[in-house]
Amino acid sequence: MIRALDGSLIETKSKKFNRDVHWSSASGEWETPQHIFDHLDREFHFTLDPCATRENAKTPQYYTKKENGLAQSWKGERVFMNPPYGREIGKWISKAWRSGLEEDTVVVCLLPARTDTRWFHRYCTKGTIWFIKGRLKFGGHKTSAPFPSMIVIFPENWKGILVSPSKKAEK
Ligand SMILES: C[S@@+](CC[C@H](N)C(=O)[O-])C[C@H]1O[C@@H](n2cnc3c(N)ncnc32)[C@H](O)[C@@H]1O
Repeated sequence: MIRALDGSLIETKSKKFNRDVHWSSASGEWETPQHIFDHLDREFHFTLDPCATRENAKTPQYYTKKENGLAQSWKGERVFMNPPYGREIGKWISKAWRSGLEEDTVVVCLLPARTDTRWFHRYCTKGTIWFIKGRLKFGGHKTSAPFPSMIVIFPENWKGILVSPSKKAEK
């Protein structure tokens, strides 16, 4: 049994969350909701998914663990990056920021909105940030994510207008 700070019950033995699936950052497989990818792809026309498996790759050109997307050059690509959400996440965001400094390279990241982290303050604040309203339902998950998400775009001086899918739907 777990109680929140205000004393309310958030978990009981009888209705236990599967922490491995819902909370563990080790799973890494928070597959991008297709409508979010499609919305962004209409604007950016992505050419590379650097963190993928053959099954979940979002673009025809992609890197898996085997090729190690972190070790590859992203120069000249329009990159869609939804990285593994484990301990290595800072390395991916650092790579996204550095790649954004290279010629003709744009990196659009789908990330957990962890605004208290070093990587958020060191890198994300240099990009364009779109905080997503509500919680995303990632591929393969029956319920919404237990964390908020954000889109971060590099390079630092990216000049564009991002319209949220919900705003578009309201028009
Ligand atoms: C959050 S999932 C995103 C999957 C998919 N690209 C998407 O957007 O839905 C992160 C993926 O990165 C893969 N991955 C983990 N380490 C990697 C590495 N070093 N190089 C490339 N891909 C990696 C994982 O297997 C996982 O499929």
